[in-house]
Amino acid sequence: MSVIALVGAQWGDEGKGKIIDIMSANADVVVRAMGGDNAGHTVVVGGQTYKLHLIPSGILYKNAICVIGNGTVINPKSLIAEMDSLISRGIDISGLRIDERAHIIFPHHIIIDEMNEKLKGAGDIGTTKKGIGPCYMDKAERTGLRICDLISGSFTDKLRVVVDAKNHILSNLYGASLLDFDALLNQYKAYADRLRGYVCDTSALVYNAIKQNKRVLLEGAQGALLDLDLGTYPYVTSSHPTTGGFCVGAGIGPTLIDECIGISKAYTTRVGKGPFPTELDDEIGNYIRENGLEFGTTTGRPRRCGWLDLVILRFAVRINGLTQLVVNKLDTLSGIDILKICVDYECDGKLLSDFPSNIEKLQYCKPIYKEFKGWKQDISGVRNYDDLPNETKTYVSFIEENIGCRITMAGVGSKREQSLNR
Ligand code: GTP
Repeated sequence: MSVIALVGAQWGDEGKGKIIDIMSANADVVVRAMGGDNAGHTVVVGGQTYKLHLIPSGILYKNAICVIGNGTVINPKSLIAEMDSLISRGIDISGLRIDERAHIIFPHHIIIDEMNEKLKGAGDIGTTKKGIGPCYMDKAERTGLRICDLISGSFTDKLRVVVDAKNHILSNLYGASLLDFDALLNQYKAYADRLRGYVCDTSALVYNAIKQNKRVLLEGAQGALLDLDLGTYPYVTSSHPTTGGFCVGAGIGPTLIDECIGISKAYTTRVGKGPFPTELDDEIGNYIRENGLEFGTTTGRPRRCGWLDLVILRFAVRINGLTQLVVNKLDTLSGIDILKICVDYECDGKLLSDFPSNIEKLQYCKPIYKEFKGWKQDISGVRNYDDLPNETKTYVSFIEENIGCRITMAGVGSKREQSLNR
């Protein structure tokens, strides 16, 4: 392992947390490079469950440097709460580093996120309402404030400009209450005092680590189909949860990344709205949901479930340049007589092998399936790949042969030892 990027290959929730945990244990530097506290990994270490949102999972292992990169957006309040929660559980967070260029989430970003979703009514995106999108909007508009501003002597003046502009928008466009400049300034100055000691140029830090042959893990959040540019727009996130997002969001060049590992489930799930060609609105869909515990971790909302879609996985291989794929949750499919895998779509009477760019086209795509004999037995106790039922191995081999990427690990449960090397 030198520099490894881990990315979700579907619509998120692929079980990245488990694989990140396995790999973090051997990493010197672990980097988050995109998104904010809208992401969430559940990691179990030493029998303890930790829910991490912005801080990389490597923090749970001694000596790892854990970077929150320039491509992230940081809500200082929730970051400090996450830091305090780890400290209270005896975790040493001295390895945490925060990039100077990361943008800051303010209360007005959260207000605007909530208002925008409300105004859209039935056409809402289903955001987490944590202000992530509006913060990235300000970044693109070049009016955002960054961590380097927060800890500098000019913060008061810069915040004044922002508050004046946002109060104008909040009162005239949204009819919302105004921001109290003094209260906001005091609050953010206190955050600055708390975070200052962790701030540095993390792009240089990561580069130097790579040059010293340190093992660097780039920890992905969300998934390929949620990429702002390449995903199922507009039902996407506001950043780039793809390999390219690591280059920009961690400030490292593409030639420095040695391996790019995608994480997939053995089937497909999707949260929220938008077309989903292989969705199962039937008994089998319910079986997968119940058996795979496919309910949102924070909201408890049932996830939409469907057959595995190779059009999606080939797309993820292409746009990420995946060199390996992990297939999780094979155990969830135990007990289904006939399994189906979507190999292509049929759209307007034509065969479509590439994932369409426009979701209006996607909603008319009909999956073309290949059927497989399922396996009856519970496979969660299997510890060697070769000991899996032949039907399971045939299922995995078929995926590998049809996506142009090696499958190097198969998941049969949520524990570390339930990840089988292949
Ligand atoms: P996001 O970053 O929010 O997309 O989440 P994630 O990809 O990190 O997913 P998360 O860690 O929330 O994993 C989803 C759930 O699946 C967790 O409860 C995992 O413990 C569980 N899980 C992971 N791999 C497997 C597996 O092979 N089998 C089963 N049954 N559960 C698994």
